[in-house]
Amino acid sequence: MSEIHIPELSLVVLIGISGSGKSTFAERAFGPFEAVSSDHCRGLVSGDTTDQAATADAFDLLYYLVGKRLDRGLLTVVDATNVTRQARAGLVRLARDHDVLPAAIVLDVGTEVAVARNAARRDRSFGAGVVRRKAADLRQSIRRLKKEGFRSVHVLHGVEEIQDATIVRDR
Ligand code: CTP
Ligand code: MG
Repeated sequence: MSEIHIPELSLVVLIGISGSGKSTFAERAFGPFEAVSSDHCRGLVSGDTTDQAATADAFDLLYYLVGKRLDRGLLTVVDATNVTRQARAGLVRLARDHDVLPAAIVLDVGTEVAVARNAARRDRSFGAGVVRRKAADLRQSIRRLKKEGFRSVHVLHGVEEIQDATIVRDR
């Protein structure tokens, strides 16, 4: 069992392709209000958690919610794919603006597992090609995360490591 140490007040940025298990992990490892999900925000602004046309408004809301929580000194988890450098840069800046340390947790589940999971989901229609491309983006990213400003970087490889990881909050 691996322990992931993070400061008590962190902005935890989950990073992983669709189907990697971010939402499942967030639900198990964090409190019920700690994770802010981009899909949930899509649903709030548009009525449809999968409406890609609502992405800009959904992220406006996500940033607003996360900012409010950080102002209150509450650890917050961003549940979004965060596979692009631009997506992560905005979150690193948001954390800094609130004097909070950004922590990256990468769920590197393996592309074929994610593709198979998504094929079985009714709420996901991404083709295998899209998921594979994003997996390649992610692989490129992993070694750059520290340079991007993440104070800590944890990479979980494979289904078991993701399932077994526990979060330890350091004071
Ligand atoms: N799943 C699973 N076993 C796990 C983790 C997830 O079978 N150990 C399943 C979930 O039940 C879900 C799918 O895999 O049907 C994707 O998991 P989810 O946590 O929703 O993945 P996300 O990374 O959140 O995907 P997305 O980016 O599309 O929201
Ligand atoms: Mg999810």
